[in-house]
Amino acid sequence: MTRIVAFILAMVALVAPVHAEVITSPGNVISVTIATNGEGRPVYSVSRRGKPVIAESEMGFLLTDAPQLLRNFKIIDAKTSTHDGSWDQPWGEWKTVRDHYNELRVRLQETSTLHRMFDVVFRVYDNGLGFRYEFPDQPNLKTVNIAEELTQFAVAEPARAWWAPAFESNREEYLYNDTPIAEIGVAQTPLTLKTLSGLHIAFHEAALVDYSGMNIAKVQGGLLKAVLTPGAGGPKVTRAAPFPTPWRVMLIADDAAGLYLANPLILNLNEPNKLGDVSWVKPRKYVGIWWGMHLDTQSWASGAKHGATTANTRTMIDFAAQNGFGGVLVEGWNKGWDGDWFANGEDFSFTEPYPDFDLEGLQRYARSKGVTLIGHHETSANAAHYESQMDAAFALDRKLGIDAVKTGYVSDAGGMKFKLPDGRVVFGWHEGQLSAQHHLRVVEVAARNHVTVDPHEPIKDTGLRRTYPNWVSREGQRGMEYNAWGVPKNPPQWESELVFTRMLSGPMDFTPGVLSLKGRGGTPLLSTEAKQLALYVVIYSPIQMAADLPENYAQHLPAFQFIKDVPTDWSDTRVLNGEIGDYVTIVRKDRASENWYLGAVGDEQARSSTIKLDFLTPGRRYTAQIYRDTDGPDGADYRTNPHGITIETRMVTSADTLTLNLAPGGGQAIRFLASKAK
Ligand code: NOJ
Ligand code: CA
Repeated sequence: MTRIVAFILAMVALVAPVHAEVITSPGNVISVTIATNGEGRPVYSVSRRGKPVIAESEMGFLLTDAPQLLRNFKIIDAKTSTHDGSWDQPWGEWKTVRDHYNELRVRLQETSTLHRMFDVVFRVYDNGLGFRYEFPDQPNLKTVNIAEELTQFAVAEPARAWWAPAFESNREEYLYNDTPIAEIGVAQTPLTLKTLSGLHIAFHEAALVDYSGMNIAKVQGGLLKAVLTPGAGGPKVTRAAPFPTPWRVMLIADDAAGLYLANPLILNLNEPNKLGDVSWVKPRKYVGIWWGMHLDTQSWASGAKHGATTANTRTMIDFAAQNGFGGVLVEGWNKGWDGDWFANGEDFSFTEPYPDFDLEGLQRYARSKGVTLIGHHETSANAAHYESQMDAAFALDRKLGIDAVKTGYVSDAGGMKFKLPDGRVVFGWHEGQLSAQHHLRVVEVAARNHVTVDPHEPIKDTGLRRTYPNWVSREGQRGMEYNAWGVPKNPPQWESELVFTRMLSGPMDFTPGVLSLKGRGGTPLLSTEAKQLALYVVIYSPIQMAADLPENYAQHLPAFQFIKDVPTDWSDTRVLNGEIGDYVTIVRKDRASENWYLGAVGDEQARSSTIKLDFLTPGRRYTAQIYRDTDGPDGADYRTNPHGITIETRMVTSADTLTLNLAPGGGQAIRFLASKAK
């Protein structure tokens, strides 16, 4: 061998993978390779139909008290397996979810003195993949103190990105930046990309349990990397081995519709239901003493403006009962709202009502009318204080038969308070490890008392509703309340962006249905009336609020009928069309009947699409009750004629097509009422 050949071989050994394992999805669509490169760095890559999606990307960890886990690794074992099963959601967008993947598990071990190990497990589906690290029990890594997870995502093609900034004061509640991938700063997940060739990719995580939430930062060009949410002073994550990390997830599809339809993959990566019989979890619509506070016509605090009075609540219970809504949320019912409640939350009692709120009498009254109160626990992000009362609070709910609670974690990001086992109280982040622990404690205590929870300012959704079906919804982005406050209001493209970003993570308590189209001081929403109806189908949540005031609904009774009719629990969901931030049309089938419901929303432009009704059962006739933006020169427009709504019925079958014309800022809602089967 000449010296020059030896030199070339040595160089190749330095850069080329020395050992690679490959796993392909069941339909041979997606293929993943994991290898150790010439430096012994674990690296993986992803391709789809033979084309690179993620180029070689590194994996590993920085530790706070031990050398990094990054180089000098060797694959010492590899196993593959396959799984094809299905499971039923107790409630959801689909009744049955198929879980079909091929799995590769590799064990990596350091070749140097410490011989530390971790496994990487890939589950590869035809529409995406998940991978996670698992630390086995081992002599030289008993406690893993993670300073940073070094997972990279080297996106192979140029792409456009929809991303909300991470680590900013207002937590998850930011409008999406729409930029080339190279302009991403630090993004929250879900982070959604559309590549030059049209491929849609969303990065997120599944089963965020006892770990810190993952954000994604740009390194340079298309190279992205994980950035974990900080810990409260110490490591970002502390865990005793053995333990798994959350799954790092990529949903990958040809178009935006496919991306939304890929999102059950996140549920599949979560553990099955741990709660057993959850028939006590009730999807429902609800109303509340709530919008008035955001309009500033009522207050949470006691006094002349107090919203949560016995009289107001009785009226709201009557309104709910008359219109078939199962719940009445009452905010401001409990002591602690007087003074600066935002500041520290220490004044809150989660068991003591204000004197002008007859908790027990009202719940009795509600139950006598087939309604229930929905509890409210605003914690001002003081998890330490909340946990000191949590058992008593949920036990009280159980005693009274209050089966649902909305929680809240208002504070600037980084301002959550946690009590450590040694008694110290520390400040931390809404998506840090301590918050992940706290939220599961709440969900577990609530479950023991047969109560569902719906956190606002929550930790992000990573599909844990599969494991804990009482975790029914959460907020976690800019909901309707942004339209009550000043400016900027949610822009017209907001909901068609949300569907392909935030909504990929799970249900959102968006609180739709403001038919008055007015916020505080009469300021206009950037929406038509028909669009408010469409939101009940487009934005999925098993609990949906009718957020407006009863007196406003009284002014818009024809449109209100759709809010009364629309269910919140589905046996099937299809996305008929969509482009991120432009428009989307979703149809869902009621779980309790043969009826289908359609919601279409657009952006600031007029949008038109023709859809096939082939989702309907062939041979059956349906009455389509259509709520659409009025056409014509003086038709609906969110700027000039937001209340321009046309309500009409048509007989249709699965062989028909419909053209949906959406006004600027508009939308359309349809109820397809099935005739009796022949
Ligand atoms: C913010 C929540 O988003 C809102 O719904 C709630 O009314 C207030 N916090 C008070 O809890
Ligand atoms: Ca747009």
